Amino acid sequence: MTEITSLKDGLIADIARADTLDAVEALRVGALGKSGVVTALLKTLGAMTPEERQTKGPAIHDLRESVTAAIAARKAALETAALDARLAAERIDMTLPADPQPQGSIHPVSQVMDELAEIFADLGFSVATGPEIEDDWRNFTALNIPETHPARAMHDTFYFGENDRAVGGDGNPAAMLLRTHTSPVQIRTMMAAPPPIRIIAPGRVYRSDSDATHTPMFHQIEGLVIDRGIHLGHLKWTLETFLKAFFERDDIVLRLRPSYFPFTEPSVEVDVGYSVENGQRVIGGSGDAENGGWMEVLGSGMVHPAVIRNCGLDPDEWQGFAFGTGVDRLAMLKYGMNDLRAFFDGDLRWLRHYGFSALDVPTLSGGVGA
Ligand code: PHE
Repeated sequence: MTEITSLKDGLIADIARADTLDAVEALRVGALGKSGVVTALLKTLGAMTPEERQTKGPAIHDLRESVTAAIAARKAALETAALDARLAAERIDMTLPADPQPQGSIHPVSQVMDELAEIFADLGFSVATGPEIEDDWRNFTALNIPETHPARAMHDTFYFGENDRAVGGDGNPAAMLLRTHTSPVQIRTMMAAPPPIRIIAPGRVYRSDSDATHTPMFHQIEGLVIDRGIHLGHLKWTLETFLKAFFERDDIVLRLRPSYFPFTEPSVEVDVGYSVENGQRVIGGSGDAENGGWMEVLGSGMVHPAVIRNCGLDPDEWQGFAFGTGVDRLAMLKYGMNDLRAFFDGDLRWLRHYGFSALDVPTLSGGVGA
């Protein structure tokens, strides 16, 4: 009898000490399995005399029940501990978004405008804006494009009706229109505050025109510098610095061609050299190279004295340069898109393909591109 009691005490102590589910299972097999010690004792009951069975039977059954209960209790305790540990380790932060996939993207036009603002901010330019509904004095007349000037016809202007006339920038009644370029922001800036002036003006412009490279609405960026002693060298350096930063290449070669804009004199059209890499035109390299050519990217020139005078400034004291270019076109050249119309279709597949991460903010140090 004492044998059974000490066997029971020993087994229960072993079970209490078992610190893994495997250890408990090994003890169960050793005690209650087919050839376990307790099973062996149970088997001896059959061969006993009825008297013997009466005295030893209850102790053996008690042994089996106690060991079975101890094993079940130990197993449950270990399972609870394991679950607690798992719950602590697999903690979920319910405040995190359910789907961490970034949604939406920055449109290439916005991206390029941000890149331009970053590049020009570094050169000391601030960003100016003007309204898209403009009067014809600021859009044309003040820019040295009088009513009879053929350039007015060239702009394919969207005019508002006769009844929508308002007061123009010179105080006289003026026809209203959708601005055909960002150049009226030059007028607004010169009339708003005295020089020195260093601004860029990005924004929407409108012309009645539509094909693969023209849409009725598109984006331009204007640049204007007004100060004392400004000359063509300042213009060339500024554009070269800007184009190198924008295309992120040092081998940007500029070609300045004499041109004509009513509001600049002299007027200069700017080409950049491109080379052909894998059948694709890539900005950079000398345009005279065997495998390349020139691409027009900018209109510019020295601000016409008449324009400076129209804004109430003395052209003998103040000089400056201006430039203008298409933002969409710059985006197409830099990021290799070929159909302008896709910019404004709102096709999600196009936006996912050409869009930029909202977290990828253009900086000069980190790279203005993507
Ligand atoms: N406004 C001109 C255009 O729309 C571009 C330009 C701006 C040219 C400033 C010279 C100076 O084509």
